Amino acid sequence: MDVFLSQLPVPDIVILSITGTPGTGKSSVGASLAGKGRTVVELGDLVREHGLYAGMDEERGSLEVDPEELAERVPSLLPDGDVMLIGHLSHCVDADLIVVLRCRPSVLRKRLETRGWAPAKVQENVEAEALDVILVEAVESGHETLEVDTTEMTTAQVVASIEEILAGERKKYEVGHVDWSQEVMGWY
Ligand SMILES: Nc1ncnc2c1ncn2[C@@H]1O[C@H](COP(=O)(O)OP(=O)(O)O)[C@@H](O)[C@H]1O
Ligand SMILES: [Mg+2]
Repeated sequence: MDVFLSQLPVPDIVILSITGTPGTGKSSVGASLAGKGRTVVELGDLVREHGLYAGMDEERGSLEVDPEELAERVPSLLPDGDVMLIGHLSHCVDADLIVVLRCRPSVLRKRLETRGWAPAKVQENVEAEALDVILVEAVESGHETLEVDTTEMTTAQVVASIEEILAGERKKYEVGHVDWSQEVMGWY
């Protein structure tokens, strides 16, 4: 059986999910990939266009979205061919590969503060990044997951990493190589 499996061709990547905590640079990367001719879909746009939300989370100022509904409805709404699905819930959709963009929490905090978000919303997202929340969700989805530390990278460098991943690189981006625990310990 093992021999048989190892002889199967590597499946083509049809849906690539680019996920990560808000502020990690997903949309910037998506815009750049679209500029290079890739098919890029912002999940948030699909959610709004097709009403894939239950209501408004007034406290957070965001739409209430059911991950299971996304998983059910989004695939049929995507264009044919290879798609890069961008968004902090994009790992909820069955993807052939998930890339989680990471950003050092202290740096992420500065990026989110410039968005004019309420302090509690900034804090909630910084903590989610520090605790690997999206990474864990992605890994638990059972789909192949990689992570890219964008903290010291420009958008162009992150795009180059994604191109490298599409060309087959895995080792450099293995789950577990990003670790914010030292920084988190410094909070106490
Ligand atoms: N690689 C980067 N280095 C520095 N700042 C970045 C980088 N990528 C994005 N930013 C900035 O961080 C903020 C969030 O970027 P954005 O692409 O909207 O993230 P996301 O879509 O993940 O929420 C924006 O102000 C953007 O200009
Ligand atoms: Mg975005």
